[in-house]
Amino acid sequence: MLPAFFLLAVACSACYALDNGVALTPPMGWSTWNTLACDYDEGDLREIADIMVKTGLTKLGYVYFNIDDCWEDGRDANGRLRYNATQFPSGMHGWGQHLHSLGMKFGIYTSSGQYTCSGFEGSWGHEFEDAQTFADWEVDFMKLDCCNTSVEMKNVSYPKWSKALNATGRPIVYSCDTDELIGIFPWTNEERPWDWAPPVCNMWRTWKDIKPYWWSWTMNLAFNIETWDLLDLSTIAKPGAFNDPDMLEVGVGEMTYEESKSHFSLWAMMAAPLILGNDLRHMTTETLDIITNAEVIAIDQDPLGRQGRRVLQGIDSDIYAKPLVGGAIAVALWNKVDYPVDITLNWSDLGFAPAKTMALRDLWAHRDLGPHTQSYTAKAVAPTGVVVLKLSPVPGQPPLHHLLLST
Ligand SMILES: *[C@@H]1O[C@H](CO)[C@@H](O)[C@H](O)[C@H]1NC(C)=O
Ligand SMILES: *[C@@H]1O[C@H](CO)[C@@H](O)[C@H](O)[C@H]1NC(C)=O
Ligand SMILES: *[C@@H]1O[C@H](CO)[C@@H](O)[C@H](O)[C@H]1NC(C)=O
Ligand SMILES: *[C@@H]1O[C@H](CO)[C@@H](O)[C@H](O)[C@H]1NC(C)=O
Ligand SMILES: *[C@@H]1O[C@H](CO)[C@@H](O)[C@H](O)[C@H]1NC(C)=O
Repeated sequence: MLPAFFLLAVACSACYALDNGVALTPPMGWSTWNTLACDYDEGDLREIADIMVKTGLTKLGYVYFNIDDCWEDGRDANGRLRYNATQFPSGMHGWGQHLHSLGMKFGIYTSSGQYTCSGFEGSWGHEFEDAQTFADWEVDFMKLDCCNTSVEMKNVSYPKWSKALNATGRPIVYSCDTDELIGIFPWTNEERPWDWAPPVCNMWRTWKDIKPYWWSWTMNLAFNIETWDLLDLSTIAKPGAFNDPDMLEVGVGEMTYEESKSHFSLWAMMAAPLILGNDLRHMTTETLDIITNAEVIAIDQDPLGRQGRRVLQGIDSDIYAKPLVGGAIAVALWNKVDYPVDITLNWSDLGFAPAKTMALRDLWAHRDLGPHTQSYTAKAVAPTGVVVLKLSPVPGQPPLHHLLLST
């Protein structure tokens, strides 16, 4: 008898993982990679998962608990991918069930090539088998990396994996990471994920890995924004399919409070997946404050699923705007330099007449600023800091964002 996944694959040979009903808002969670890399076992992960529940992170939406590379241990005699049993004494299915019992979701990793980025067993030539193995383990999220993969192989394996995931019948978020194939200048590179990924993946990396330093993520953001503006990629993002500027570095490395706050805010403005990477066992209250700001998270998780755009590029500051449900708009006033600056949002930046009245709220101060017309100036925005506002229509006035949506 043919295995079930084969029959389904034949019945649905053109089906991708999309329309899988997941990632309707950008996925939120935690991943092993940014702090632990290859140095983790089930004991560490259980501790971290418990902290996610205790600190209320899961309630805020951080439910995907993602194992990145280094869990694999070759294949068994039947070609089935093996996990490292020393590292995971409960087994992968047991680990998945533990996460589910905590109300969390199980994320896993593999590479499209024969080997993963850390030299473990990859999935090349085993896409349908491995997808079924993951479904058997009750996996909910899968990141496909592209180490040991040529562009030609990538062209084959990424769409193939999408079909393989669909064929399992289990809705699994499909996260496509081809950063190794992306050049320094993404818009001139041969690998252009935005050209092929949107109908195939739930989320796709748009540029290189970020590092936990201000210059690294600002450069990544700048490149992403240039690319996104140039190619109008912000209009591609929608429920079920999001641009991914990489996992968060908040609480990792040497970033200051203001830098981390800006990092988090801009990811939310870009409707980016919010995958934490810090060691939650050693976290400052400042870090916890940033990642638990429910009002900023709500901007990221807005059900409209629209990505923000830069509406003003200044020498020392930028302004970003993102349409929200109910006709509201999120606006980020970002100070890019190391001295305080006043940043003015002029209604004309959003395409509105000066007389239009809007109700403003500051989402980091958690304070209503009242109705405004014409413009709003945030005074002395901290060096490398950000002010995030929510602009809402006042009663009797039409929704605010028709212009943002139509461009
Ligand atoms: C598979 O694809 C079909 C057609 O797009 C879709 O209706 C179905 O929900 C998908 N199933 C999964 C598990 O992705
Ligand atoms: C399996 O995990 C253990 C404990 O983390 C580690 O010492 C060992 O090297 C791993 N085995 C393989 C094949 O990676
Ligand atoms: C994958 O790794 C193997 C072993 O290092 C190497 O021989 C092969 O050329 C690599 N393939 C690609 C596409 O990088
Ligand atoms: C990969 O696919 C792209 C289209 O998405 C195509 O332009 C490119 O030539 C392909 N590259 C290889 C090496 O097959
Ligand atoms: C806002 O923009 C309008 C139109 O471009 C301009 O006339 C006005 O001076 C600007 N106001 C501020 C406070 O920058």
